[in-house]
Amino acid sequence: MCGIIGYVGEKSAPSILLDGLRRLEYRGYDSSGMAVLHDGVLEVRKCAGRIENLRKLVASSKIEGNTGISHTRWATHGEPTDSNAHPHFDQSGKLALVHNGVIENYQELRTELIELDHTFKSDTDSEVLAQLIGRYYAEEENSTSLAARLTDAIKKALSRVTGTYGIAIAHADIPGLIMGARLGSPLVLGLGENEHFLASDVSAMITHTREAIYLNDGDLVTIRKNAFEISALSGGKADYEISEVELAEDAAEIGDYPHYMLKEIHEQPQALRDAMRGRLSKEDATAMLGGLQMTSRELREVDRIILTGCGTASHAAMVGEYLLESLARIPTEVEISSEFRYRNIPTDKNTLQFVISQSGETLDSLAALREGKRKGCRVLGIVNGIASTIARESDGGVYMHAGIEIGVAATKTFTSQVTILTLLSLLLGRIRHLSTTDGLELIAELEKIPEKIRTILDGADRIKEVAQRFSATESMLFMGRQFNYPIALEAALKMKEISYIQASGHASGELKHGVIALVSKETPSVFIAPDDAVYEKNVSNIEEVKARKGPIIGITTEGKTGLERICDEVLYIPSAPPPLTPLLSIVPLQLLSYYIAAERGCDVDKPRNLAKSVTVE
Ligand code: F6R
Repeated sequence: MCGIIGYVGEKSAPSILLDGLRRLEYRGYDSSGMAVLHDGVLEVRKCAGRIENLRKLVASSKIEGNTGISHTRWATHGEPTDSNAHPHFDQSGKLALVHNGVIENYQELRTELIELDHTFKSDTDSEVLAQLIGRYYAEEENSTSLAARLTDAIKKALSRVTGTYGIAIAHADIPGLIMGARLGSPLVLGLGENEHFLASDVSAMITHTREAIYLNDGDLVTIRKNAFEISALSGGKADYEISEVELAEDAAEIGDYPHYMLKEIHEQPQALRDAMRGRLSKEDATAMLGGLQMTSRELREVDRIILTGCGTASHAAMVGEYLLESLARIPTEVEISSEFRYRNIPTDKNTLQFVISQSGETLDSLAALREGKRKGCRVLGIVNGIASTIARESDGGVYMHAGIEIGVAATKTFTSQVTILTLLSLLLGRIRHLSTTDGLELIAELEKIPEKIRTILDGADRIKEVAQRFSATESMLFMGRQFNYPIALEAALKMKEISYIQASGHASGELKHGVIALVSKETPSVFIAPDDAVYEKNVSNIEEVKARKGPIIGITTEGKTGLERICDEVLYIPSAPPPLTPLLSIVPLQLLSYYIAAERGCDVDKPRNLAKSVTVE
């Protein structure tokens, strides 16, 4: 949520900042802005709307300079207007700040500052921080240098703040310097030759440097052209290490696809191969997940698993619950992170917690991780974001290696998460009751999945036709059983977030306990009914909807006949063992929601009100 990038060096800051913002746009896109230091003046350009609007503004009203900070916003406090766009300034107009996070006690601080004659130009919580730092800066007269004075002011202001922040600050009186700090929101320092960067994410600076330092909560950082300094906000030194960034420069390019979401749906065969690469042992008929950093003996002692995540990651976790229980026979619970952090779930020394997160920065999931650790649990991550906060704070885990995902609606990372949970279930199953033959069979079937996804993708035109038929609908129901119940939830989430259709997912068996009241000629029902032990049960539910004249789209296994008679449309997936069907059944549903949204003219990659990385509570 919100992306920031700051630059100090010899090059033109505005173009570097614009390029960085474009790469960070997935973090928020309702307004953007920059402040660039030139001849002792901080020139600001900011406006509501997409980065493109800022680009046009900067092109028509040029600014120059080698030091600057910038921001792309996802509104929390205050509407997405020009005045609420960042950067925000202090009372003197000389200190500019960009902020990612939420200042929870901003009202109280704002009232205090207004009583001291400060005037505010925005409704944001962030401006309070700019004004507070500026106030302390004005009061600190005995510092040895202006930089030391700003450092003291930042420390003093942040000590009064409740909430989260990743900030970058520039001051008109201190040329060639940017300061930053983080607590709960990511901040990365990029090290270049005669230049340094501060950003929410390495992707913002990938065209300029491969060397990065992932800052920790409580770090304060100062960057200049030729130097940087990291210290603890609480005083003293901070620990850090320099990492080599592996992200490919063109990883974020869209290629010939009209949308990133479609590209990422098509990347699933590769993403799944990458999730499995080097992690399957035919010799031992098991999975190898060294990143868990647990011995077989320790894994054997696990008697309960808690899977935490938000949104799509929580749906992957639900598939994981079915997988772990059926393949490894370990009691497993799924808890959405935002609930887990405020519940008081009893755990014992043999409880293992996983935090599942694409970005590795989702604040609620990070809080769930910290809560688990506070309780003394071993907490592991299933994360895509390399060196993200969740990856760094967990006791071990598994990287997804799905590659960068730009479309706000998660697609390839969902199937990648489910693949990793399948590997985990195989590993834990083999330590317990799963035989060598069972293990080998699962591996063989799993290895066939990427190619099977490819055949579904090859049939995308048929799914597009179905989408066109139903694109005008305003409500939809999704239903599935067992392994495909979470797929009903995930498919409904995809549909609502990109096409704004009222969609809900349900266990098919729940239909007659209330949901059936929603069935009508205007509300299509999608049934996920592969050829499995509950196929006939699903068919009975489909009949119930049919009897009430509800339009029906069925998803079933190739070669299975019967649904054509009772469904208006049927889409097919290749045959697979029931535990692996979610990896297939979600694909036509991702495409269905994509084509419906595209047909409705929706902004598929940047749906309204959403952002890719949710770093606020
Ligand atoms: C939906 C979607 C979100 C995310 C959720 C968690 O398409 O993308 O529901 O799954 O915000 O994000 P991560 O996985 O980054 O923790």
